[in-house]
Amino acid sequence: MNWKHFWDRQALASKGAKQVGRIMVGKELEPKLMLNIAQQISEQLQLKETDRLLDVCCGNAYLSHLLLPYCQSIVGVDFSEKLIAEAQKLGSNRMDFFVGDARNFCLNQRFDKTLLYFSFQYFEDYKTGKEVIQTLWEHTQLGGQILIGDICDKRKFFSYYNSPKKLWNWFKQKLNKRNDMGKFWHPNELLQICEELGIKGKVQAQQTWQPYAHYRFDFLIEK
Ligand SMILES: C[S@@+](CC[C@H](N)C(=O)[O-])C[C@H]1O[C@@H](n2cnc3c(N)ncnc32)[C@H](O)[C@@H]1O
Repeated sequence: MNWKHFWDRQALASKGAKQVGRIMVGKELEPKLMLNIAQQISEQLQLKETDRLLDVCCGNAYLSHLLLPYCQSIVGVDFSEKLIAEAQKLGSNRMDFFVGDARNFCLNQRFDKTLLYFSFQYFEDYKTGKEVIQTLWEHTQLGGQILIGDICDKRKFFSYYNSPKKLWNWFKQKLNKRNDMGKFWHPNELLQICEELGIKGKVQAQQTWQPYAHYRFDFLIEK
């Protein structure tokens, strides 16, 4: 799947939530639910008002701007110029955005906290996942936290593809090499990557109220 092409096209949607796939059963997630997700992230990252947050794969900053009340400033990175252009329209002097690929961008600075949310599935093999984690690590201050959130869980593949129709669609997409969900990761793969990089990471289960808790998990890395 050409994800760059996919997300550039997605940026043409009229609603902000749709531009970053924040939909469930065809409907945008409720604003209140998005606020709760932002609060949950702020707790996992122990965000403080003095923190500089790096949001990788930020898209149009639909989520980033909800995190702004919990920190001092946010820098967002995404490889879709079109989504970054949407993010820049928000025009906050506490947010800054750059076009870059999560696998290898370099901002020449380190952040107190780093986030990559609802996007790890677009890194479709072990080597790429490792490159991304290495890049997040290099951009985070000593003593900081990295949250990779909303990762599709390989162990819960059938909780997502839970009907013959969905499975049939998955099979057809797979044949055409156009699967629109990306990779379902096993938590052990992330633990293995961390071990190879000599860093400490732990798997976190999501809370039941979270919209994708039935097939996703979170992963927290301490630097
Ligand atoms: C589902 S959206 C998530 C946006 C936001 N993080 C959120 O939680 O609402 C996925 C985002 O990942 C970005 N993305 C995918 N692969 C990327 C890569 N290799 N480098 C940078 N951004 C990438 C897409 O452009 C898109 O904005």
